[in-house]
Amino acid sequence: MKLKNVGIIGLGTYVPENIMKNSDFEKIIDTTDEWIRTRTGIEERRFASETEATSDLGAEAAKAALKSANISAEDIDMIILATTTPDYPIQSTACVVQELIGAVNAAAVDINAACSGFVYALTMAKALIVSGMNKNILVIGAEVLSKCVDMLDRNTSVLFGDGAAAAVVSEVEDGYGIISQFLGSEADVKGVLRTPAGGTRKPLSQEVLDERSNFLQMKGQDVFKFAVKALPKATLEALNAAGMKPEDLDMVFPHQANVRIIEAASKRLEIPMEKFYLNLNKYGNTSSASIGLALGEALEKGLVKKGDTIALTGFGAGLTYASMILKWSY
Ligand code: COA
Repeated sequence: MKLKNVGIIGLGTYVPENIMKNSDFEKIIDTTDEWIRTRTGIEERRFASETEATSDLGAEAAKAALKSANISAEDIDMIILATTTPDYPIQSTACVVQELIGAVNAAAVDINAACSGFVYALTMAKALIVSGMNKNILVIGAEVLSKCVDMLDRNTSVLFGDGAAAAVVSEVEDGYGIISQFLGSEADVKGVLRTPAGGTRKPLSQEVLDERSNFLQMKGQDVFKFAVKALPKATLEALNAAGMKPEDLDMVFPHQANVRIIEAASKRLEIPMEKFYLNLNKYGNTSSASIGLALGEALEKGLVKKGDTIALTGFGAGLTYASMILKWSY
């Protein structure tokens, strides 16, 4: 039996207006624009306003994706929202977005695969459509990391930003869409990338607030070592599953964490840097939103055209890693 071809039929993005430049951090922590720029490639990032939550960003990206796909919110039968920074501990952010966009016929669920979340969610959407369970799925990656990272911790505060991307996933014509995917995970037993408290392991308390352990903590060098292996491995696994080689790719959309991680992956994969789309200089690391934000910008610039072969590759907390090969369908 021939399986359905599933692909992205519309994509939308949203970032908050407020720009936080590297030099703005010089006023609050012991850092410099030069350090951040040379160690990461980041120049500025967007921060949500006091009143903006993850769902607000996700809903704006979702509306743009629906417009791009030329379908209405009522046509969506499932929302899968990837985030590490939900609006609330209980009530999924997907359900809040459902209300904000009026997707009255949809089921809605959050997933957390950190910075691999967008690719994980796209993979789940594909499986649901191939099985016949759903027809039009809204996949969203949305984050407000600025409220979950310790602004006084220079190891993390300068790296992250806020944003959202959304894709409408549906059946597409033969020969197009998602060709293959790879999902991986290896448990982070040492806690190199984790928010240690504020969940059920160590609930919020005065002690937690005093030690600031309700914010993300990271052992940067351990994460770096994982990332430089995970990005090539995930991409190669997905390419193998597609029966393709690195040179078959027209473009790669990697998770936008650090330009040095992407340069290392470019060497290992023997794919020239020009094929890696980068916009981390403007947005920093936006976790589950970053791959979609990069893809959305490339589409707007006309850099991705129908028939192009592209890879989306993520890695992050968990530790998770994931990649997907697509033949672009519009
Ligand atoms: N400004 C100035 N100095 C800083 C700093 C900042 N924002 N952050 C750390 N430093 C200091 C460190 O304290 C250290 O000082 P010391 O030598 O006196 O101890 C020094 O810079 C070097 O730190 P190091 O961790 O060795 O730097 P690095 O070259 O490894 O770069 C990261 C740090 C975080 C940029 C890098 O490890 C990285 O990108 N890791 C992966 C992070 C990531 O991608 N996370 C998300 C994954 S989804």
